[in-house]
Amino acid sequence: MKLQDKVVIVTGGGSGIGAAACYAFAREGAQVAVANRTVAKADAVARAIESGGGRAIAIGADVALSADVQRMIDRTATELGAPDIIFNNAGISPSGRVADISEAEWDECLAIDLKSVFLTARCALPLMIEAGGGLILNTAGTFGLRAAKNKAAYSAAKAGLINLTRSIALDYARDKIRCNVICPGYVDTPLNEGFPRAERDAFLEQHQPLRGLISAEDVAEMAVYLASDAARMITGQIFVIDGGQQAGLFA
Ligand SMILES: NC(=O)c1ccc[n+]([C@@H]2O[C@H](COP(=O)([O-])OP(=O)(O)OC[C@H]3O[C@@H](n4cnc5c(N)ncnc54)[C@H](O)[C@@H]3O)[C@@H](O)[C@H]2O)c1
Repeated sequence: MKLQDKVVIVTGGGSGIGAAACYAFAREGAQVAVANRTVAKADAVARAIESGGGRAIAIGADVALSADVQRMIDRTATELGAPDIIFNNAGISPSGRVADISEAEWDECLAIDLKSVFLTARCALPLMIEAGGGLILNTAGTFGLRAAKNKAAYSAAKAGLINLTRSIALDYARDKIRCNVICPGYVDTPLNEGFPRAERDAFLEQHQPLRGLISAEDVAEMAVYLASDAARMITGQIFVIDGGQQAGLFA
């Protein structure tokens, strides 16, 4: 067991990559706080972990709201202990060019996909430092490495998240806090449910050199590795899992 008795918070833990990560962390012995805006989804994942013999709690929290984030950290600390690992994974992926989206849509995307990591880190860091260290792991995406057409707010938020990761890594390394970011390509999750199958296949044929679908479990395995002692000297880094998409400009 790579994460025996570690306390892990997973935001957006009720679906897709977050849910897969909750199960993978629990399988490695971690106690998991499953946080999600829709609490019913968090509940289902926490119950599945508990019925498999693991330890998990469900927390309803909107990570864009500082009061919710504070409550999420407090409940975890009270019921499971100070967090060792926070997986900031909750996200939305709205489309639109700058002149097509409203100010409210821009603000919502930046709040959920970027500001939320500032909020969780600010809230959890004092506890993590007092406990002797930990990991803040973030999910950005390949659209944070290179912009995608029609994804202005999302691309900007995820690019910001990559450098926020580096800032946290630099500022807290001497406190034994590591901070890394995972950049998935196209992952087969509910986030992409609206993407028609034929368009998806054409997109992958054109942009993803390795054939096949990246699964939420593929990303979860990377998260487990980064949370384990095997990654103890890795911080401030980007981990791309994209089937080779970013290997060339014209993949
Ligand atoms: N699926 C992909 O192709 C892909 C690619 C690159 C990056 N990502 C990123 O991976 C992360 C997870 O995405 P996924 O594909 O698993 O999507 P998903 O929609 O399956 O899961 C996201 C979860 O986050 C929750 N959530 C959304 N806003 C929230 C908020 N304000 N507070 C708390 N919870 C909230 C949702 O309820 C949902 O359960 C996101 O950050 C996404 O941007 C996904």
